[in-house]
Amino acid sequence: MVVAIYPGSFDPITKGHLDVVKRASHLFEHIIMAVVEDSTKHELFDIKQRVALAKACTIDLKNVEVMPFDGLLVEFAKKHNATAIIRGLRAISDFEYEFKMSQMNKVLYPEAETVFVMSALEYTFLSSSLVKEVVRLEGDVSTLVPAPVLKALNNR
Ligand code: PNS
Repeated sequence: MVVAIYPGSFDPITKGHLDVVKRASHLFEHIIMAVVEDSTKHELFDIKQRVALAKACTIDLKNVEVMPFDGLLVEFAKKHNATAIIRGLRAISDFEYEFKMSQMNKVLYPEAETVFVMSALEYTFLSSSLVKEVVRLEGDVSTLVPAPVLKALNNR
């Protein structure tokens, strides 16, 4: 059984993330969506909320589980016997960052492969950072985030 890790800040989880994990769930037997505890970016939701929202959004995906993690991603992957790391890839601008990160993870954990899932066309522009900015300026993100996230935003 191939276990894959889908890591990220998921602050908040967007329809783009959900699309990637849905498509990846057809490729791997088991996926652990790993939500990084210590987000270096400005936080919209704390770790408990980000994990709860990721769980709510993936409830229908039976081979996906959600866990928080801290420290090195590769150590978390080793601990869970994961040999694949899933990352979504959007525009060309993602490439350099993703390339460096995948190479570093390869050096640290050669047995794991990073697998990139290309973003669906309608989500190529979508990022958590942009969603956060629109939220901060009180814009409408209802078409960009899954229903549980929208509900959590409205409750804030
Ligand atoms: O959603 P993001 O912010 O692009 O996700 C980045 C993430 C969480 C995957 C990355 O920052 C990460 O792996 N952090 C854990 C610490 C680590 O392993 N750093 C070295 C990566 S080469």
